[in-house]
Amino acid sequence: MSSPPRRDDSSASRPPVTLMKLAEKRALGEPIVMVTAYDHPSAKAVEAAGVDIVLVGDSAANNVLGYPDTVPVTVEEMLMLSAAVRRGLETPLMVGDLPFGSYEASDAQAIATAHRFVKEAGCDAVKLEGGGAMAERARAIVRAGVPVMGHVGLTPQTATALGGYRAQGRTAARAKAVLGDALALQEAGCFSIVFEAIPAGVTDVIMEFMEVPVIGIGAGASTDGQVLVLHDLLAIHTGFKPKFVKEYAAIGEAMVEGVRAYAEEVRSRAFPGPQHSYGIAPEELQRLRAAVGSRRQTAA
Ligand code: KIV
Repeated sequence: MSSPPRRDDSSASRPPVTLMKLAEKRALGEPIVMVTAYDHPSAKAVEAAGVDIVLVGDSAANNVLGYPDTVPVTVEEMLMLSAAVRRGLETPLMVGDLPFGSYEASDAQAIATAHRFVKEAGCDAVKLEGGGAMAERARAIVRAGVPVMGHVGLTPQTATALGGYRAQGRTAARAKAVLGDALALQEAGCFSIVFEAIPAGVTDVIMEFMEVPVIGIGAGASTDGQVLVLHDLLAIHTGFKPKFVKEYAAIGEAMVEGVRAYAEEVRSRAFPGPQHSYGIAPEELQRLRAAVGSRRQTAA
C-alpha cells in the first residue's frame, strides 16, 4: 500500500487554456509557458505551477522509458503516458506528441493516430515534427478536427538526417528552409509551432512572418513562449545538458539523497519509529499471546 494522490484546489479558479486564449496571449504580448509531463504526479505539479500548455513529449522515450532517443517510443506507450497526464490536468492545454512512424506514411495514418490521442488519451491537440510533406499531414489532421502544433528547426525524430543534435538554420540558405517549413505549417492550419535550436537572430527574422503563437526551445527570446523538458529544468537526470537548458531545481540529487537517507535509517533500525506503526489494544495483544504462546518460551 502507498499513499494515493492527494487532491488540491490550486487550479480551481483558473479557466481552461483554449486555442483562442493562446492567440489572445500572443496578441497581448503575454509570454506563453509550456512544459513537458509524462505521468500523473508531474501533471499535478505543472498544473499547480500554473503553466499554459503541457506537452506529453516523445522525449518521454529517453526521459522516463530508458530509450537512447525518441525514435523507438510507440503509439501505445505514448497513449498510456498521455492518459496518465490527462488524469492529473484540468487547466492547461494538453498536447500529445505523435511518435516517429505514426503519421508520416499517409494522411489516413496521420488522422487515425491523431484520433487515438484524442479519443483514448484525452489530448486537446497533437504535435508532429517537420515541414515539407509533414505540412500536408498537419493539414489533413486539422481537417479531421484535431488541432495541430508544428515543430521545426531541430526535429529529434529525424536528427540523423539533420546531421545530429545540432542547431539548425545556421546559414542563410538553411535559415530560409526553416522559414519555409514554418510558413507551410502555419498555412496548413497549425494553431502553434515549436522552434527548436535555431540561432536567435534567425528566429527574430522568422517571427516577422508568423501569425500563430510560436513556442521556442533554444530559439532565443523573441518567440511568443518557451518550452523546456521537465526533466531538464528540474535536473532529474545528470549528464549531457543542451546549451538551452536552465536548471531551476536539483531534483535528481534530492531523490538520491532521500533514498540514501531512507536506506541508512533502515540499516540502522532508526526507521520505522513508533509514529509509523499501527497500534492494537493491549487486551487484544494479550489474547493473541495466550492463543499462540511464545516461540521463544516454547523453544526453551
Ligand atoms: O518531445 C519533446 O519534449 C519536444 C519538446 C522538445 C518540444 O518535442
